[in-house]
This record gives sequence, C-alpha cells and structure tokens, in this order.
Amino acid sequence: MVLLKNYISHTNQIKIINKIRELGLGPGGFYQPVYRSGNKLHLQMMCLGKHWDPERGSYGLIREVDGACPPSIPVEFKQLVEDAIQDSHALLKEELKLSNVERVLPRMSPDICLVNFYTESGRLGLHQDTSESSESRRRGLPVVSFSIGDSAEFLYGNNRDINRAKKVILESGDVIIFGGKSRLVYHGVRCIKQNSAPSFLVEKANLRPGRINLTFREF
Ligand code: SIN
Ligand code: MN
Repeated sequence: MVLLKNYISHTNQIKIINKIRELGLGPGGFYQPVYRSGNKLHLQMMCLGKHWDPERGSYGLIREVDGACPPSIPVEFKQLVEDAIQDSHALLKEELKLSNVERVLPRMSPDICLVNFYTESGRLGLHQDTSESSESRRRGLPVVSFSIGDSAEFLYGNNRDINRAKKVILESGDVIIFGGKSRLVYHGVRCIKQNSAPSFLVEKANLRPGRINLTFREF
C-alpha cells in the first residue's frame, strides 16, 4: 500500500468538490445505497463510469432504483490518478530502492469511480474490493482512493478482524493506493472526525461537514 500524504493541491481539492457537487445533484447523482439485507450503508454514494449495485456486489450500466446512468469520470480526475501512480513509482524507486515498480504497483486506467459522502456519523465496515473483474484483481490493478474534507479513521488488515486491524488517519488531500499484493486488503472507515476539514475548504469550497472519498478502479 502507498499513502501519499497531503498529495492533492488545495486548488484541485476545491475543483474536485465543485465537480462532485455538480454531478452529485444531477441524474445518477448521490443516493442512499441499501444492501440486499435491507440494511442501509452509512454513507451517500454516486457512481461514475459504471454503477456499483450494493444488492449484488457487481457493476452494471444503470442503477435499478431510478434507472439513471452513471455520469462519466471527468478527464481531470483520471489525470490525477495517473499522476498519483507515477509519483508512487518514483517514491518506491527512491525510498525502497525498488527497480520493478511496474510489477509491484501496476498502472491502471480507471473506468469506475465510486464517490462516497460520509456525514459525521458515517462509517463503512471492513471489506475487500472484489466486484472488479477477476483479471483486474489477478493483475493487482490498484484501487486509488482520494480523501477530501473531514478526516477519517481508516482501518486495514489481512482479515475482517476489527481488533487486529491497523489504523491510519486519512486527512483531506491524502491519497491511499492498494494494488499488487495489497489489492485485496480488508479496509473500512471506523469514524469521521468532526470539524477536522482544513479551513480553506470550509471557507472557499463551502463544504458541508463530512468527508468525500473517491475510489478509482479498472474493471
Ligand atoms: C471504500 O472502501 O469504498 C471507501 C473507503 C474510504 O472511504 O476511505
Ligand atoms: Mn472498498
């Protein structure tokens, strides 16, 4: 796993929020997902590129609740993902003296982005990301995750045991990447830290309390 702290510039964080707000209010925008059990996820979701169906745990072209097609992933988001992988490669070469960085962390070209909005009571249980194609998972194509707004306690580990999970605080502008051998890491959001968003976001982007998370994947 690679964690790029404070990676997304202030300007880009504001641009992302504005774009997400615009898309989130339109067709295929934010909605409340519900599992097959009837339990609601403790977050609002918007899917870009393909729709992730929480009942089946699979992707499709429309969402059944309202027949909406997911908006496309903005090109400027895709560029940021490419840059984050490129910069991770440079870091792996420099800090860990790795030469086979393309194998350790394969490149990917996202065709899916799940956007989550967590209010201060939002959370997400420990899980693996397994809805992508078996080929994508076999190749270890990374999931690239952007955090914006309030900080989150992010848990990760080798199994679903919450007591053994490690914890890291994801703050606004952080990017975390799990690919290669870490592609199937268990992960989740234990809680959102109230009033922890940087003041520039609150002032300039008029962000309401909460956290936005974008996870980019290649099907
Ligand atoms: C996810 O696992 O889909 C989202 C993780 C996060 O919000 O950091
Ligand atoms: Mn996930």
